[in-house]
Amino acid sequence: MKSINEYVQKHPFIGGVIFFVTMAVVFLLGLLASSIIERRAEAVFAYAPTVKYQSWEPRNELWGQNYPRQYQSYVKTSDTSFKSFVGGSAMIDELERNPRLVVLWAGYGFAKDYNQGRGHYYAVTDVRNTLRTGGAPSPMPNTCWTCKSPDVPRMMETLGVAGFYKGTLDQLGHQIVNPIGCADCHDAATMNLRISRPALIEAWQRAGKDITQASHQEMRSLVCAQCHVEYYFNKKVHDGVQYLTFPWDSGLSCYEMESYYDQMGFSDWIHPISKAPMLKAQHPDYEIFSTGIHYERGVSCADCHMPYTSEGGQKFTDHHITSPLQYAYKSCQVCHREETGQLIKNVYDRQKKVKETKQLLEDALVHAHIEAGKAWELGATDIEMKDVLQDIRHAQWRWDFAVASHGASFHSPLETNRIMAGALNIVQDARIKLARLLAAKGFNKQVPWPDISTKEKAQHFVGLNMKKLNAEKQQFIEQTVPDWIRRAAEREKKYFTTDQFNE
Ligand code: HEC
Ligand code: HEC
Ligand code: HEC
Ligand code: HEC
Repeated sequence: MKSINEYVQKHPFIGGVIFFVTMAVVFLLGLLASSIIERRAEAVFAYAPTVKYQSWEPRNELWGQNYPRQYQSYVKTSDTSFKSFVGGSAMIDELERNPRLVVLWAGYGFAKDYNQGRGHYYAVTDVRNTLRTGGAPSPMPNTCWTCKSPDVPRMMETLGVAGFYKGTLDQLGHQIVNPIGCADCHDAATMNLRISRPALIEAWQRAGKDITQASHQEMRSLVCAQCHVEYYFNKKVHDGVQYLTFPWDSGLSCYEMESYYDQMGFSDWIHPISKAPMLKAQHPDYEIFSTGIHYERGVSCADCHMPYTSEGGQKFTDHHITSPLQYAYKSCQVCHREETGQLIKNVYDRQKKVKETKQLLEDALVHAHIEAGKAWELGATDIEMKDVLQDIRHAQWRWDFAVASHGASFHSPLETNRIMAGALNIVQDARIKLARLLAAKGFNKQVPWPDISTKEKAQHFVGLNMKKLNAEKQQFIEQTVPDWIRRAAEREKKYFTTDQFNE
């Protein structure tokens, strides 16, 4: 190979070309540097706070004056037009779509009303409107507000944590009015991510860990794990107060939480047909996600659900938290080279396979409840039913755990299907025991499947008086809620704020 020197000596014009190319590169680099400096200046400008407020300020629109891009993208969680194979941002009546759920949750609030979750913007509205929270006094405790609003950390500062959880849901209704927002995830002074909910901090403490030591990447998931987790209300620690607790002391898997609940003899309700002591799973999104490949590779919730985005040259975190399939180009394609259509197909393929198992399992669970009901009717004894009821409890807990996390079938398809495959085995075991028991009682036939072809028929079958529940809710929405909103507006008018931040 010849050296460049020899080459230039032979062809002198090449020297000139190299000179001009070098000049052009230097010029372009200069332009780039100047553009970076300019963007930096813009960034400083973009984050120059214009309004000053208290550290606990619950009103998102006020924070929004200082951080307009994050706020405007946050407001997009109000959009309900997106629909995907299992998810999306629209409010879908799950009981209408799948009336078997009414039988599975008979005797529990979810049989009255259960919708697919919408965006964070609706968190407070949807709690007020669901039939599960009833009227005033509500059948639910104030603890239910915990995952709905930045008014929660504000009130916990005033009332103390147990003080906040005390009483029925209607008692704090006039205080909890702003939907999930900035103060839930951010420290107002530094804008660093922060954990505002005590249940998560306490669960870490019991495991001997300090959450303030979590890494930045972990925090990008842990802010979500304040709410998107399995939890229960422990009445044994604070004078009967329904204290929000994560059942993580034995571990985060479905099986470890099951044995945690078994050991403490906890159940959410007794099923009126089978009389099984039931567990209701909430939404263990974080726990199931942490068994999947993305967690394993260090990907955080925010990487997919809050991707970086760019607007007018300004890079920021998109606060439109929703199905990432709405913006796969920003979320998935940062790491994957495949086309959007291919990525969506990969998601749907996994979801479809999980759904197949789910449907088999739901059918078997409905059968088991009804067959157990028949056994009681024919005079079965507690001792004869003990194992069967424990099986039904475990199988339904596992089913609920797998499906109540709406992202699970993508976040960790293998674990989700493993949980349900195990549950299917347990419930079929219960049904074999029941078939023997029924035969011993002289009943050697199929117990007929009830007419639960629609939500209304299923609710009638489990003995719900929907007319009464709907009337009570209507009155509550027309009379109580407007009063809450009026009182909150009066109160918020008195909060300290100033737009003279820089003076
Ligand atoms: C303070 C509690 C809380 C926190 C923190 C929280 N969520 Fe939520 N999230 C909720 C509630 C409650 C809903 C359901 C709202 C409704 O249906 O009215 C929800 C709904 C959602 C939905 C469904 C929205 C849709 O359009 O399909 C997604 C996705 C979601 N959250 C992801 C996240 C992620 C990711 C994080 C962390 C970056 C997070 N959430 C943090 C409570 C929370
Ligand atoms: C569910 C949790 C959550 C909520 C609610 C939330 N944020 Fe964020 N925010 C995040 C995460 C996660 C990041 C990324 C932080 C990081 O990686 O350093 C972020 C980043 C930011 C940043 C840093 C700059 C950027 O864009 O990355 C600002 C400013 C911000 N958020 C403002 C807001 C405002 C204003 C609100 C209310 C309208 C809000 N956030 C609500 C989780 C949240
Ligand atoms: C921050 C990087 C990152 C982002 C963002 C990301 N992925 Fe991945 N994804 C990975 C890694 C890493 C793996 C593991 C593959 C490996 O290590 O070979 C993976 C694996 C997968 C797999 C195979 C998993 C399985 O079940 O077998 C699918 C499918 C997938 N990703 C889809 C998506 C989709 C859809 C999105 C957007 C919603 C997305 N990914 C976003 C990094 C990412
Ligand atoms: C690799 C990307 C990725 C990561 C990381 C991720 N998700 Fe998801 N998530 C998805 C996809 C894809 C879906 C399915 C969306 C659909 O079906 O429309 C989903 C669905 C959801 C849903 C249901 C949304 C709906 O519309 O019903 C929730 C809630 C959710 N994720 C929360 C979380 C939480 C909390 C974390 C962290 C613990 C997390 N996700 C981590 C990609 C991701």
